Amino acid sequence: MSSLDPAFERFLCGLPKAELHIHIEGSLEPELIFALAERNGVALDYPSVEALRQAYAFTNLQSFLDIYYAGASVLLKAADFHDMAYAYFQRAQADNVRHAELFFDPQTHTDRGVPFAAVMEGLKSAQAKAQAELGVSSELIMCFLRHLDEDAAFATLEQAKPYLDDIIGVGLDSSEVGNPPEKFARVFSAARELGLRAVAHAGEEGPPSYIHGALDALSAERIDHGVQSLADPALVERLVREQIPLTVCPFSNIKLCVFERLQGHNLGQLLEAGLVATINSDDPAYFGGYMNQNFVDTFAALGLGRDAARTLAENSFKASFISAERKAGYLQEVAEYCA
Ligand code: ADE
Ligand code: ZN
Repeated sequence: MSSLDPAFERFLCGLPKAELHIHIEGSLEPELIFALAERNGVALDYPSVEALRQAYAFTNLQSFLDIYYAGASVLLKAADFHDMAYAYFQRAQADNVRHAELFFDPQTHTDRGVPFAAVMEGLKSAQAKAQAELGVSSELIMCFLRHLDEDAAFATLEQAKPYLDDIIGVGLDSSEVGNPPEKFARVFSAARELGLRAVAHAGEEGPPSYIHGALDALSAERIDHGVQSLADPALVERLVREQIPLTVCPFSNIKLCVFERLQGHNLGQLLEAGLVATINSDDPAYFGGYMNQNFVDTFAALGLGRDAARTLAENSFKASFISAERKAGYLQEVAEYCA
């Protein structure tokens, strides 16, 4: 892979940015998995950190999800969720991430008997500490697991009701193909009636029709991934017209074999088409890097320059769920940084 000019690399790393597509369970590094397994007396299928890392060779989304759900089995107590999230926030701050919107998968935990309250308590205390000590602001987006049924999603929404002030929106993740957005139309409608925002994974491995479905059936305000959109010119036109952001995750797409090589990723084409694309890390502990590594390697592979860097940083704040006033402040900061 070609390498970047060191000054440009520093410029990319120092850019103020927001991260909008990070599964907090996907930030669980193997070392922390082992530490929490020990702390909680959970048996793991792997003898060592190295052996676990060796298993991170994925062929598609499902092959990753199987290991990702196994990794999450060490999370039992509020303190575990706190430690996981705070470790992410420290890495985010190091990458000049000013604001992060975190996905979390309550069903992965409540189905193992972990109380919803423990998940929320741990995440909330980490958020408060990150704001106070690192200056990183954050929001929580509760994802429904799409391989499970609508009733299970409704039960999860019910459990979230005491925490509506702490959760900004709902999302849809897990096994995409065979689980179209329409399956969750009613629960998303109920969530929106409660004042929650809506986003959805669509067009990661699934067809463009799933992106249409996320917009039409779920009223998704952002599309997570969306890289399959280029196969449907009418969809691209719609996404541009409606300025629907795409939270693109380059390392994820390579590790899960959506694209063979980073040099073949379509991020440059998405930007060229006028789409509001952003760069994100998805599940950084599993995919080989956090925000800045995604930026640096993707820019090197695709030969992107300063204009793309500024656009991506601006898009990350524009696409976020922060107030218009805060957006204006960050956009000013990006403008000054790029001047
Ligand atoms: N859960 C965690 N990462 C995911 C991804 N990339 N796609 C769908 N579900 C996920
Ligand atoms: Zn994702």
